[in-house]
Amino acid sequence: MQNIVVKGGARLVGEVRVSGAKNAALPILASSLLASGRSVYRNVPALGDVRTMDKLLGELGAEVTTKPGGVTLVDTSKVNNVEAPYDLVKTMRASVVVLGPLTARYGRARVSLPGGCAIGARPIDQHLKGLAAMGAKIELDHGYVEARARRLHGATIVFDMVTVTGTENLMMAAALAKGRTTLENAAREPEVEELARVLNKMGARIQGAGSPLITVEGVDELQPIEHSIIPDRIEAGTLLVAAAITRGNVLVRDCLPEHLDAVIAKLRAAGVEVTPEEGGLRVRAKAELKPTDISTQPFPGFPTDMQAQFMVLMTRAKGQSVLTETIFENRFMHVPELQRMGADILVEGRTVIVRGPNKLTGAEVMATDLRASASLVLAALIADGTTKIRRVYHLDRGYDRLDKKLRALGANMHRTRGPM
Ligand code: EPU
Repeated sequence: MQNIVVKGGARLVGEVRVSGAKNAALPILASSLLASGRSVYRNVPALGDVRTMDKLLGELGAEVTTKPGGVTLVDTSKVNNVEAPYDLVKTMRASVVVLGPLTARYGRARVSLPGGCAIGARPIDQHLKGLAAMGAKIELDHGYVEARARRLHGATIVFDMVTVTGTENLMMAAALAKGRTTLENAAREPEVEELARVLNKMGARIQGAGSPLITVEGVDELQPIEHSIIPDRIEAGTLLVAAAITRGNVLVRDCLPEHLDAVIAKLRAAGVEVTPEEGGLRVRAKAELKPTDISTQPFPGFPTDMQAQFMVLMTRAKGQSVLTETIFENRFMHVPELQRMGADILVEGRTVIVRGPNKLTGAEVMATDLRASASLVLAALIADGTTKIRRVYHLDRGYDRLDKKLRALGANMHRTRGPM
């Protein structure tokens, strides 16, 4: 089991490149199942969840080859299995995005129910409701969901809440369904738009992705493609906060500022200087930070995946910041660990109050989920003394060598092996 040991206090300076987006790569890899043949994906991030998706595609009979430089080839000509087993789904809930493609193309999918996870219950009822409306027969047994349909048909589906992977699953299913599907109250996240771009390249007829109303005219067949994946807006946001929190001066390269409007607006409100420059965003933070409130919202609102990182930034601000989590019911697991490092944080249901500025001190802490572990790395960067972060496999599930990137900017950190 690996740990990251950080000696706090370094100011981050230099340039850093953002990797491909995890939450775009996962459904895009799954979308390869909708066609027969070899797809080529570029800018695929090297991280744990992508390896899990590669493994899952392999279990289904696809041939997955990864090459250096972020290239992944997926050959789906020999897919012969439609079951996503418990062992893989339990390590990565996003495995559920194979449900739509398998049902649409092979007429049958058996996917282990993901169950709860560290950040909340996270049901998939909306995915199932949509597939049922498109004519799939859904059965739940022995912890698996089984969907069957000779051929899915178009339907009008209104989501009860905004769901990212729900929208993605149904968009993929609708691409091969007979007739027109409309998805209302659809997720507008850039990763949904990116998946629609990929599906349209494959021959799908999708309009409106990026808006709450998506229309899909089903087609009979899709083709494999070549595609380069968009940059990861959450990794970019995490790097922006890392630069700001250390009062650094960093150029975050290869990010798409239009995906980061809400994050940039809040950083600026907090007194951080964020300037678009040729090739990326420059972050400088010299002045004292101002307390800033956030409420997590579906895109284009402030992303839940940046809440933990922003909380650490607010421990530096002078005054009281109120952070409200509206997407997941249990996404404050980083709080007790930050409190152990000296942060003054009060939890009131789905809201936390951060009273700063706090002097954080290094401690032995434990990561419990992906974004929580990123927040602990950020806290460690500014803590007095040494912090040892355990269970960094959570970090590696979702970040492409974050510690290596931070080290290149001057952070003092290294990995050790040790107990869980
Ligand atoms: N929900 C339901 N029923 C459903 C689907 C969702 O009740 O059928 C609820 C969820 O429980 C949650 C809310 O709706 O309270 C939103 O969940 P959503 O379905 O949008 O989340 P997701 O698709 O499972 C994706 C990202 C998450 C990100 C969320 C919200 C991927 C692979 N994962 O999850 O990313 O937090 O959207 O933006 O795209 C991360 O990268 O750290 C991460 C957790």
